[in-house]
Amino acid sequence: MKPYLKEHPWSIIEDSFDKNYHQISESIFSIGNGHMGQRANFEETYSGESLQGSYMAGVYYPDKTRVGWWKNGYPEYFAKVLNATNWIGLSFKIDGEELDLNKADVKSFYRELNMKEGYLTRKFTAELSAGKVVEVEATRFVSIVNKEIGAIEYKLTPVNFSATVQVCSYLDGDIKNEDANYDEKFWDPVHVSAEDERTSVTVKTKKLDFYYCAMQETHIYQGDERQTGSVLNNETEKYSDVTFELELNENTPMTVYKYAANVTNRDHDISELEKAAALSLDQAVQKGFTQLKTEQSQQWEKKWLDSDIVIEGDVSAQQGIRFNIFQLNQTYTGEDERLNIGPKGFTGEKYGGSTYWDTEAYCLPFYLATSEQRIPRNLLIYRYNHLEKAKENAAKLGFSKGALYPMVTMNGEESHNEWEITFEEIHRNGAIAYAIYNYVNYTGDKSYLGEYGIEVLTEISRFWEDRVHYVEHKGYVMIGVTGPNEYENNVHNNWYTNRIAAWTLEYTLNVLDYLKDSDPDLYKKWVAKLAIKEEETSKWADIIHRMYYPYDEQRGVFLQQDLFLDKELMPVAELDDRHLPINQNWSWDRILRSCFIKQADVLQGLYFLNNEFDMDTKKRNFDFYEPMTVHESSLSPCVHAILACELGYKEKAYEMYLRTARLDLDNYNNDTEDGCHITSMAGTWMSVVEGFGGMKIKNDQLILNPFIPGNWTSYSFKIVFRHARLRVQIDQKHIDVTNESDVAVDAVIHGEQFRIEGKSSVSLDH
Ligand code: BGC
Repeated sequence: MKPYLKEHPWSIIEDSFDKNYHQISESIFSIGNGHMGQRANFEETYSGESLQGSYMAGVYYPDKTRVGWWKNGYPEYFAKVLNATNWIGLSFKIDGEELDLNKADVKSFYRELNMKEGYLTRKFTAELSAGKVVEVEATRFVSIVNKEIGAIEYKLTPVNFSATVQVCSYLDGDIKNEDANYDEKFWDPVHVSAEDERTSVTVKTKKLDFYYCAMQETHIYQGDERQTGSVLNNETEKYSDVTFELELNENTPMTVYKYAANVTNRDHDISELEKAAALSLDQAVQKGFTQLKTEQSQQWEKKWLDSDIVIEGDVSAQQGIRFNIFQLNQTYTGEDERLNIGPKGFTGEKYGGSTYWDTEAYCLPFYLATSEQRIPRNLLIYRYNHLEKAKENAAKLGFSKGALYPMVTMNGEESHNEWEITFEEIHRNGAIAYAIYNYVNYTGDKSYLGEYGIEVLTEISRFWEDRVHYVEHKGYVMIGVTGPNEYENNVHNNWYTNRIAAWTLEYTLNVLDYLKDSDPDLYKKWVAKLAIKEEETSKWADIIHRMYYPYDEQRGVFLQQDLFLDKELMPVAELDDRHLPINQNWSWDRILRSCFIKQADVLQGLYFLNNEFDMDTKKRNFDFYEPMTVHESSLSPCVHAILACELGYKEKAYEMYLRTARLDLDNYNNDTEDGCHITSMAGTWMSVVEGFGGMKIKNDQLILNPFIPGNWTSYSFKIVFRHARLRVQIDQKHIDVTNESDVAVDAVIHGEQFRIEGKSSVSLDH
């Protein structure tokens, strides 16, 4: 795709209107606040191709599974986040003619997503019939201060005419998901109201009884004067509006302020829903648009203080990384432990807005390093709260004990319906155990282990124990799995899965030892509660000891699976470009037979368990697998970038970083119209901080091994580590680490030990 967005360090800017890019822009310019979010649809009527999308976090629908041939154990439904009431709607009839950019002659167009202050703005000039020219300036945001509130300021100027205008401000709850399995609507009407400037729509889901009330209030000004004249209300089952009729004078602007409160029964009693919406709305209206917007920008300033990455000398890279950070902060704010991070966030419907292993494997590091401890902790608690469901899931699949977390979920139940993924991609269980380790290792919060962690670890370990079996000639094996590389199904002894399983057992035993030493009473409580027996832990030790790992002696590499070497091995570079991406050009059969790897698999293990392997081992495996990797999951390049940095493959690292840095901004995979790749955005952050910055934690110490790409003048990133906030700045010659907090920190930078006192910095040369 030709680059059509303008480069800017803090904003995403589009300065012309092209209908062909409209749906891509609707994804990219999306706004959200963790509680709700929406695609960048136009407020006014647009009759062209568009995906109207407005989503409330945690409000989903169990859409009945649709498969060709039903097999026992299939999930009953595929969960999807619901496209919900459109609360931004405005329509303008100017002397009877609808303002619609699909029909008008668009003379100028400018759209900006202001990431620094967290709002979306649009300016355009359009010519209607008979040469009537209107100018519009529209700004909107969803508040990160009052999570239920969205606000719009829409200023319209008739440049060269006077006319009668009808402004209709509406709420439309008659919404359908694009990805509905049976083309049905998921919302039932509950109640609508419309009284002068205030209207509401309450709807409920057909299953699960999620109630959602949207309530709006609309004010119109001409100059400083609030217009209260002729007002008409209209309502149907799931729709309500207010229409104002005004006389517009040539060159005299009219401004519409629209405030909307969006509340659900996730946070309020059903019987109190409208009251809660009214209360929230009253507060917003009282503050007014300007104050709400000021509060919004102040709050975003705070977010950036903890999470910004500054890149000097490469505006395109700067814009790319800030876009990723902005989207992550818009998607998940961590206040609500019932919520998680869908691969598309609030930007589209694909992947159903559900939770994948993406959260633990790719997103957690970002939240660990850029937010208060309770925020990543809540991501862990989310899984803790799903433990019973994970046990049910394991039982449903015929296991005698333990917990198997789902590959895709909303409420803890498996809700994915591709069998190779649902039943076979069990490695996700390892990522959930690893996330506990990662959290404790990063934050030092060992209390988590005794409060929640040990229970999850024990049940996951039990699953692994049940899933492996012993064969004389090999040891413990795991057959019939799919590893992270989804381009091989039903393989035996996927090295990564075997390794992460044995690692989980090791870690669980270590945690039990830790509890025994540090808090014997608590240890006893857990041993009794979980009925942990000596034979069980001895069995785990035996599995750890005798787990089978496929290995190629000759090359000195871990084998992705037992038969990997029976494949015809060739590098991706030898494939003609027309075959790529193979997932769009090859049959599934051909993909499965090939050696090509969708995403980091063995290398995922080398990334997670990095400290266990020496450089030569990492190098041999990287050199073997990287050339065969097609990176057709956006989650892949970051892991390769981090390992490439560690191995000193600077060009490779930069190439990998570029593959995701602007994935959506440049529509690199030609699929941004479906929504943005939110979870892979965290991977881009990892490429910079853990890759270029070489940040890791070892033995409770912060390690930094930074390098800087040749074409950057400097870059800096912020991390919160054990209550200290550090700013790490790297230019072509120096590394400066500034401790912006009062808490002293020890760090090893390029192998040298430093103590960085509060409010002080250390500097060294490369
Ligand atoms: C990847 C999975 C990932 C999913 C959602 C797939 O393409 O292969 O690893 O969990 O996308 O992002």
